[in-house]
Amino acid sequence: MTLDNYAGAGRRWAAGATLVYGPIARHIVATSPHPLAGRVVLDAGAGTGVASAALSEQGARPVGVDFSWDMLAWNAAARPPAAVADICALPLVDCAVDDCVAAFVLNHLFEPAAGLAELIRVTRPGGAVLAAVFANAAHSESRDCVDDTARGEGWQTPEWYLEIKTKATPILGTARDMGRTAEEAGLIDVAVEERTVDVGVTEPEQLVEYRFGQAQFTMWLDRIGPERAKEVRQRATDAVRPIMRPYLPTVVFLSALHPER
Ligand SMILES: C[S@@+](CC[C@H](N)C(=O)[O-])C[C@H]1O[C@@H](n2cnc3c(N)ncnc32)[C@H](O)[C@@H]1O
Repeated sequence: MTLDNYAGAGRRWAAGATLVYGPIARHIVATSPHPLAGRVVLDAGAGTGVASAALSEQGARPVGVDFSWDMLAWNAAARPPAAVADICALPLVDCAVDDCVAAFVLNHLFEPAAGLAELIRVTRPGGAVLAAVFANAAHSESRDCVDDTARGEGWQTPEWYLEIKTKATPILGTARDMGRTAEEAGLIDVAVEERTVDVGVTEPEQLVEYRFGQAQFTMWLDRIGPERAKEVRQRATDAVRPIMRPYLPTVVFLSALHPER
């Protein structure tokens, strides 16, 4: 029993989910209102370090936090420093970092305003707060087909995932709600945008790798073992092929500034 829903997910996340989260991380970093080179940037909910990598590409000095030790353990020797922590109770003093990035973590919180407030607390005045979540409007028939195939093969949506998807994710899943929450939290120069991102996933194999790289499949794939997992992957790929469209997730982006005080 663990409270870490991402336990054991690091390897498949890095090989699969990153196909989608990697390109989006670059878009998040590109929304910064100022250059990030040389700045210490908190990667909140860093996972395997996808946003940290995008930050490093821009010359920033990322430091990560994540609830999941397992996700942080991925490639730990080669990636920027990171610590296990809850973004709602960060082990950092006020104004500890220059800027912060929250890539697909606020959507895990039942009180995302509390997470945002904590990010603001640890960011220096004038620093950027950048975030992204999938939009409530996001839909993909091809992606649903992967899930349906897995279900047909015995996968059951984990309770924790259902709960997050129904009770937490929708809270910031529109540009209007993201913008309002950011303004209420005291951020200024709030820019929100809801748009599709071309992540370059055009082949059924890539889509299946991405989807099965996500944490809601980890325990099941581990349980059925590599041979059967390979079979299921092939079935999902065959099922998606006739309806495959380029995967264009719809993302809500937030870019804002910590007020000077
Ligand atoms: C969807 S993954 C995104 C990972 C990474 N940011 C990326 O874009 O690839 C969400 C991550 O947030 C972490 N997480 C969820 N709730 C958290 C919390 N309260 N505090 C810190 N991390 C959390 C999970 O452990 C997971 O690694």
